[in-house]
Amino acid sequence: MLFLQLVLFVVLLPGGDSEDGETSALQESTFFQIILTSSFYNRSWTQNQGSAWLDELQTHGWDSKTGAFTYLQPWSKGNFSKETLVELERIFYTYSIRLLQIFHNHVRQWQLEYPFQVQIAGGCDFHFGEVSVRFAQIAYQGSDLINFQNTSWLASPKGGSRAQQFCTLFNQYHVFNEILYKILSDTCPQFLLGLLDAGKAYLQQQGQSWSLPPRILYSALINLWKAVSI
Ligand SMILES: *[C@@H]1O[C@H](CO)[C@@H](O)[C@H](O)[C@H]1NC(C)=O
Ligand SMILES: *[C@@H]1O[C@H](CO)[C@@H](O)[C@H](O)[C@H]1NC(C)=O
Ligand SMILES: *[C@@H]1O[C@H](CO)[C@@H](O)[C@H](O)[C@H]1NC(C)=O
Repeated sequence: MLFLQLVLFVVLLPGGDSEDGETSALQESTFFQIILTSSFYNRSWTQNQGSAWLDELQTHGWDSKTGAFTYLQPWSKGNFSKETLVELERIFYTYSIRLLQIFHNHVRQWQLEYPFQVQIAGGCDFHFGEVSVRFAQIAYQGSDLINFQNTSWLASPKGGSRAQQFCTLFNQYHVFNEILYKILSDTCPQFLLGLLDAGKAYLQQQGQSWSLPPRILYSALINLWKAVSI
């Protein structure tokens, strides 16, 4: 019923997408990703911004001072226990600090020039009832440097010798890479499925009183509804 309302609303939306737009929204997969953006201003000053997204809908923020997640949707905790979430906060915080330190320590070797920006993204993808893709990548000044495949890093062809150097270094962090692999392969899909379940329960609770969100949320909502209706 609610799904129908959403579809009807998308179709009837003034100035919105045509039927083609609706179809492509329905065929898209739903992905969950975490993005950490670090701006390095100088040796002693870095600003970090962390967030998590279900498609285009932001589900989590991150307090870079305390390392605490902020839950932006009523269903953002999915079905994970408080203990598990605290553990994930700890892992995320610890590794983000170490990663930033790595960049500070290699400024000269990698010929990085302050100010610069590093973006780290990772997540998993839910497509037609299956969790299919997991990914992690690190970008420097907006261009892709290295990508995570299985348990090791590959240099992006466009990244040049700097990407090769990053790759060599990151491939030495075996423990980190194993943990990352486990988080992307096990934790991420479990969390994504739990998030979709919690989102569905929330939508059902809202029933008729659900107020329609802005345009940008439609594809996430429709995918969410479709994913959990399978
Ligand atoms: C680093 O940058 C911040 C902000 O621009 C500035 O306040 C601070 O003095 C700088 N520190 C150094 C060591 O340059
Ligand atoms: C990645 O892991 C899968 C499953 O363990 C394996 O089949 C595949 O060959 C691996 N790929 C690479 C590039 O190592
Ligand atoms: C959360 O829900 C997903 C999907 O129903 C399930 O695979 C996962 O095991 C659940 N996790 C917990 C901690 O209950």
